[in-house]
Amino acid sequence: MYNFEYQNPVKIIFGKGEISKVGANIPKGSKILLTYGGGSIFKNGVYDQVKASIKDFEVIEFGGIEPNPHYETLMKAVDMVKKENITFLLSVGGGSVIDGTKFIAAAACFKHGDPWNILAKRAPVDDAILHGAVLTLPATGSEMNSGAVVTRIETKEKLSFMSPKVMPLFSILDPEVIFSLPEKQVANGIVDAFVHVIEQYLTFPVDSPIQDRFAESILKTLIEEGPKVLANRTDYNAAANFMWSATMALNGLIGAGVPQDWATHMIGHELTAYHGIDHARTLAIVLPGVMHIKREQKKDKILQLGERVWGVLDGTDDERINETILKTTKFFESVGIPTKLPDYSVTSETIDTICTRFKNRGYKVGEKANIGPNEIRLILEDRL
Ligand code: NZQ
Ligand code: ZN
Repeated sequence: MYNFEYQNPVKIIFGKGEISKVGANIPKGSKILLTYGGGSIFKNGVYDQVKASIKDFEVIEFGGIEPNPHYETLMKAVDMVKKENITFLLSVGGGSVIDGTKFIAAAACFKHGDPWNILAKRAPVDDAILHGAVLTLPATGSEMNSGAVVTRIETKEKLSFMSPKVMPLFSILDPEVIFSLPEKQVANGIVDAFVHVIEQYLTFPVDSPIQDRFAESILKTLIEEGPKVLANRTDYNAAANFMWSATMALNGLIGAGVPQDWATHMIGHELTAYHGIDHARTLAIVLPGVMHIKREQKKDKILQLGERVWGVLDGTDDERINETILKTTKFFESVGIPTKLPDYSVTSETIDTICTRFKNRGYKVGEKANIGPNEIRLILEDRL
């Protein structure tokens, strides 16, 4: 196992009715900016629950944060934070609202020029405004991690940053928010969480049985509970297990002390940047290609995934790897997510564009940093 440091300060408040505790967890006297997305919180009662709990605070609202939150929109909130002397950010939404709010928190305190550099140049985040979250969509893990992903529409760039300064002070996870999720967003959440685990697991062995078995337990729980949530949105226990799986998939625990890949995410972000494809759907497209093209490098872990998660025990190594890739792909398709580029009307022209972008950036991705433009071409051509 590799050396590691692990610290996760996010207080998780989990369960039915717990949104009522949001006010009690915000420092007294705070001036709050409540951030939200396109309005789902007004339809499912989450907004009313939040407002009732924070009635004693001075609150200003900032809505309209888009899925794949736009830098252009977030900078308007940054202006508002400065103008109104906001001291606390309360995000109520899915990964996009929470990520966007993390960026607002950092950008409002940024003193080294253009805040875009937080994303473009990974400029250090010295400080950030305190932030708490009410999660409405289990998927990204943003509620309990230090990462955020922001899209700049003007330049079609989707970039990320990480800083412990933007980790939420608390996150409230009430599984009942899932009851109002459309099927598409449940499916996206299952696949995003699944691939988060894979990015931290499907690399090469470093003798880390705790991390491996935690990872496998999350995958198996998603495989078992995900379809239950799809079949019956008001199955509270299934919703709770799905929600906790998604948080555990990307709160740093299973990734501590082990190699990490993230190539699927990095390539997937480009498909969202150029074609607006939902984040999770890009992962369902790219991952089978990564598994296929990197089958030798990932051999031991693909075999382990096949054996322990999918029950693939028979055949030669090559046959078992093929079967494991097939079972993974079929799982994505079984929750309603197509896995090939033509399913999203993406042609080989986009492959050229993405490869050129990676060439210009000049870095390679993957657990061995050996996935560059040539490998990305092979991965994406496998998905045509
Ligand atoms: O905007 P509203 O009206 O709230 O509607 C949203 C949105 O349209 C809707 N929704 C959310 N909760 C709902 C609901 N509808 C009904 N009932 C509810 N309870 O769902 C739609 C999608 O929301 P969004 O927040 O975009 O989805 P998700 O949570 O999947 O977040 C995706 C974003 O997170 C980033 C992605 O790249 C993408 O930008 N990621 C963030 C990560 C992180 N911070 O660690 C890691 C991930 O890999 C990912 O990259
Ligand atoms: Zn993801």
